[in-house]
Amino acid sequence: MFADDLGLADHLTAPDTIIVTRGDRFTAGPGRCTIDPAAPADWTALRQAVPSPATLLYLWSYLPAPDPAGPRDHVDRALRRCAADLVRALQTFHPDRLVTVSRRLRPITGAEDLCYPAAAAAAITATLARERPGTTTCHLDLPGDAPADDARTLLRALADHSARHGEVAWRDGRPHVKELHPVTEPADGRDPLRRGGRYLVTGGAGGVGAALLPTLAERYDAAFLIVGRRPPEDSPELRDLRRTLGSRRIRYHRADVLDPAALEAAVTDAEAAWERPIDGVLHLAGAYHLRPLTDEDPDAWQADAKVGGLLNLVALLRDRPGARLITFSSLLGHLATAGCAAYGAAAATADALAEHLNARTAIPAHSLAWGLWQNLGVNRDNPYEAAAVQRGVLSLPAAQGGLFARVLLRRPPGVYYAGLNPRAAEIRGTVHDVGLLERLTLVPGEEGVPAQPMLCHDPFGVPVEVAVPAPPPWPEGGGGAAAGIVHTIQDTLEGLLGQPVQPTDRLYELGVSSIQLLQIRARLEAALGLEVPNSALFEQPTLLDLARSLTPA
Ligand SMILES: NC(=O)c1ccc[n+]([C@@H]2O[C@H](COP(=O)([O-])OP(=O)(O)OC[C@H]3O[C@@H](n4cnc5c(N)ncnc54)[C@H](OP(=O)(O)O)[C@@H]3O)[C@@H](O)[C@H]2O)c1
Repeated sequence: MFADDLGLADHLTAPDTIIVTRGDRFTAGPGRCTIDPAAPADWTALRQAVPSPATLLYLWSYLPAPDPAGPRDHVDRALRRCAADLVRALQTFHPDRLVTVSRRLRPITGAEDLCYPAAAAAAITATLARERPGTTTCHLDLPGDAPADDARTLLRALADHSARHGEVAWRDGRPHVKELHPVTEPADGRDPLRRGGRYLVTGGAGGVGAALLPTLAERYDAAFLIVGRRPPEDSPELRDLRRTLGSRRIRYHRADVLDPAALEAAVTDAEAAWERPIDGVLHLAGAYHLRPLTDEDPDAWQADAKVGGLLNLVALLRDRPGARLITFSSLLGHLATAGCAAYGAAAATADALAEHLNARTAIPAHSLAWGLWQNLGVNRDNPYEAAAVQRGVLSLPAAQGGLFARVLLRRPPGVYYAGLNPRAAEIRGTVHDVGLLERLTLVPGEEGVPAQPMLCHDPFGVPVEVAVPAPPPWPEGGGGAAAGIVHTIQDTLEGLLGQPVQPTDRLYELGVSSIQLLQIRARLEAALGLEVPNSALFEQPTLLDLARSLTPA
């Protein structure tokens, strides 16, 4: 038992238990060892002193939530305990059963201070089950009551067979498991990005950024400051973006997101040029590697752009009230995959941090957990794409990824899944209700009764590839007010129909039902603040004509 510092372990005694505590050097006594987790030699000494256990109960991830805006060493310490130290423990021992424990990681009662670093422990635990078949694993999230009470809950949880679900959160004496809910189109017709907004995009000169930013720039008249480590001349994607959008819309600053001073300098510089603060951040910087847990380097764990960069961005946004955060994470944070412990743990932590920001701070945060972007960026020439698709991770054409992003960003801040295939064997028939775009929630399960697994099926059907023609040029130069209105109409229809639409499309050819027509009218009125006559929807042949008819003279 890797004993926590909060006193939980003090209430858990069992024969044949060896307790491992953190200290500044290795000591071994009867039933107890102390190690300095940062010293590799101490782990070797631990392996020699302790036979590999049947069960490894890991409580080092049972922690209070560190304030992401507070001292950075608190957050780093928590991340180390939840990720690097756990990896070292799993490189040291090969238990038959691994149980990791957290305190208030999942938002269930709404009163939790979410301990987001523990999401890494949950993801690593799930990965172990994939990499060492035959090992039983479970992550248990406790309510964060007094240690004696949490210890009682833990004992009950260990005995309960809901623990077979891989991850269970206990609140008010009941187990909760993950369940996915379909995303529904919001009624308020909000724009995903502010029109004319200015955004920082970390990693925006990568594969996904290069595919996504032109649409966002065009639709919302947005401009972007891209941050990356490469010199600009080494990035063909950046060259393409500049060629397409012009240097007014695309600025580039060479900086590492892990360097807070460089990041702040890049943003301050762009804000001075734009003469206004940024409206938000899209955090795409990240790296992917495939490596089994046994070969992971725990010391390299902290230097992760996705989580370390995200924390620096949180500090940056603290001083820019109203600015929003959009982070790109991955379904691999939730669908554990052999070789993806580091990537999956980073994605899961980013998702959990977004939940924490929404629950506890004024920074509105979306985390979009993606499937695969077809042949783009980290998924380009991925030899394992077919295996991922077989498991139920969809490979999304860029146009569909862009559509999903726009739909999800119109929804309230939160964590959303984009690209699960409900018809895949691993996922089929296991979910409550369905959607291609899924939102993670937790629901009460029946104690002693197998609770529902976390996967889903799909009301839209498996997506087919959509061939999206290039948008037609605006007949009269820029398009003016009608351009804004046509984009609102496009967004509204795409959200309702789940497919891209073009300004030249005709409403009656899009297969819109009469009920949907009423919905479209109500949403357009809410979004545009205009009365939309019923006749306008019937009489105007194309979306562009409709927009023109609604444009104030
Ligand atoms: N492609 C997919 O199928 C897929 C699927 C799921 C999730 N995602 C997520 O979507 C995001 C974008 O993915 P992508 O496929 O476009 O990846 P990508 O092509 O590798 O682009 C990532 C970009 O991040 C930048 N970057 C990495 N570390 C950085 C650091 N420390 N500081 C500043 N910039 C850094 C890199 O630029 P420099 O080398 O110049 O620094 C690179 O251009 C990632 O977070 C990824 O995890 C992608």
